[in-house]
Amino acid sequence: MSVLAEEPTLRITKIKEHIGAEATGVDLTQPIDEVTRQRLYDALVDNVALVIRDQHFTAAQYADAASLFGELMEDQNRMYLADGVPLVSVLSNQNKDTKGGQAKMANNATWHTDHTNQELPPKFTCLYPVSLPDTGGGTAVCNMRDAYEALPQNLKDRITGMRTENTLISSVRMAAANQDIVRTQKESKTPPIIQPLVRTHPERGTKAIWFHKSKTERIIGMEPQETQDFLEELLETAIKSEFSYVHEYRLGDMLMVDNRSAMHKAGFDFDHSQHRMIYRALVRGERPE
Ligand SMILES: [Fe+2]
Repeated sequence: MSVLAEEPTLRITKIKEHIGAEATGVDLTQPIDEVTRQRLYDALVDNVALVIRDQHFTAAQYADAASLFGELMEDQNRMYLADGVPLVSVLSNQNKDTKGGQAKMANNATWHTDHTNQELPPKFTCLYPVSLPDTGGGTAVCNMRDAYEALPQNLKDRITGMRTENTLISSVRMAAANQDIVRTQKESKTPPIIQPLVRTHPERGTKAIWFHKSKTERIIGMEPQETQDFLEELLETAIKSEFSYVHEYRLGDMLMVDNRSAMHKAGFDFDHSQHRMIYRALVRGERPE
């Protein structure tokens, strides 16, 4: 009797008490059943970040894998898309701006959540490395739901109900930003999008601190610079090591972040003569409330 190779089975383990889970034993280039899909989805939402290990994707396969978790949306920056797969964008330290210079990515190196200047920002951000530096270049993720719960009650009361005005790039951050983005913002006729500073998770009912400082023109009732200072102070108070996790990528990792309970930042702590390139896919979300 021949011994059949054993099918790998899905295994999900927690990474830290407050954040992160790791999934192994699943190949998202192959069809998966609904029970498996739901287990991955719940692991992501419950643990804020999920790493699915040992995946081997082309850009098109990656888009298909990400779309198991919802409808994909286009990146608002149309300059860096994967060839032939417009729903996958390419985050690379070798991306060039329209003048041929190094595209500045400084805004991704601070805590943020993606595309807050859109009415329906992505609920999940999915990251898959294609090329990695020898060390560094990880993505940090923070559980902003537990960070919110740990705030002193008077600060919780103060920020709950605050509204932010969101644009592609805030006026006080323009000097440090990618000038293509600055030009797009200056030519834009789109009115700012108003978002809650503390949002409620539509599937879990939990509250989380939620903003993108570089895209926040102001908190309603505050001046732009005062807003930046307030948000910086809020980050310093709220982000704690026990709530956050730096994912140091291995090739094959698909990192997913539930943006409705998380903020994240890109690590720039690597040798920039080496290539860091990540495929990003965004899963469309709901109107934040
Ligand atoms: Fe981001």
